Amino acid sequence: MKAVVYKKYGPPKVLKLTEVEKPKPKDDEVLVKIHAATVTSGDVRLRSSNFPPLFWLPARIIFGLFRPKKKILGHELAGVVESTGKDVSRFGVGDAIFGTTTMLNTGSYAEYICLPESWKHGVVESKPINLTFEEAAALPVGGMTAMYLLEKADVKRAEKVLVYGASGSVGSYALQLANKEGSSVTAVCSDSNFEMVESLGADNVIDYKVEDYSERNEKFDIVFDAVGKTSKTKAKKVLKENGAFVSVKMLTKEKDEHLKRIREMAVQEEIQPYVDTYYYLDEIVEAHEYVESGRKRGNVVIKIDDDE
Ligand SMILES: NC(=O)c1ccc[n+]([C@@H]2O[C@H](COP(=O)([O-])OP(=O)(O)OC[C@H]3O[C@@H](n4cnc5c(N)ncnc54)[C@H](OP(=O)(O)O)[C@@H]3O)[C@@H](O)[C@H]2O)c1
Repeated sequence: MKAVVYKKYGPPKVLKLTEVEKPKPKDDEVLVKIHAATVTSGDVRLRSSNFPPLFWLPARIIFGLFRPKKKILGHELAGVVESTGKDVSRFGVGDAIFGTTTMLNTGSYAEYICLPESWKHGVVESKPINLTFEEAAALPVGGMTAMYLLEKADVKRAEKVLVYGASGSVGSYALQLANKEGSSVTAVCSDSNFEMVESLGADNVIDYKVEDYSERNEKFDIVFDAVGKTSKTKAKKVLKENGAFVSVKMLTKEKDEHLKRIREMAVQEEIQPYVDTYYYLDEIVEAHEYVESGRKRGNVVIKIDDDE
């Protein structure tokens, strides 16, 4: 099968499209023919080994001290079950699924992948029937991260939420999820992304290039840092007394129950994945260059099998 492999950390050009052996499912695994994957900011960080100084050594120990342990990147995917191990009961041949490989188990930049049908090493659900494979692949990481952090901040009690960096993947889901919980959402982004965030439900917008949100004479229940570029100190200036600051810099956990809820909300058209650009597998270097620029809006999708 075709897959993108990287044998060393470095710039996008370390990614090479090549032939590798097609995997075979273990007893508890499904073999998935992947139709679409994504390039996340996390993939870019893994490829370049650009971890914050405090996490650099632990990350290198986990992901490979001198070279990457997992040669195929990619966390998100959507595709069709091609075969199943003998113990698999949740999915059958021909089922359309979407989900993640989890942070430690990458591998979706490929034509096929084997995933356990249940969490521990994968979070997989039936694909929302109303979404294309490309849209479904863009749901899990940003959606689950936003849901985890909003729960931590007790979004159900929040009247006003400020999402800093609302035009990224996590930000675009955070603003939609907070909105669905009944909060009024102020989106901080540049003016070129006002239309995008308003189309996703933002009630107010602030251009971070011309205004410092923390100088506003306004109080919020939650400040959600969706791009890791603001701070608790700044956020405190506009937080209510019992307000909460959450950030993508915090540790989060992928949970089956979150993917189920994300799926249900997508089916009910309560949230929608925002896809910025599509690339093919042989354009993976360009896709990584674009995501690394830090300018992507929502999600960047890799089309692997166009034949829906
Ligand atoms: N903790 C976790 O589990 C977890 C999970 C997923 C992602 N993450 C992390 O979350 C971060 C965001 O990832 P992402 O993929 O959602 O988004 P992203 O692609 O990193 O964000 C791109 C967006 O951020 C905006 N942006 C850039 N600089 C900004 C600034 N100073 N202020 C406000 N907006 C700014 C850009 O808009 P402009 O072009 O207009 O500036 C662009 O639309 C990454 O660091 C990623 O590693 C963490």
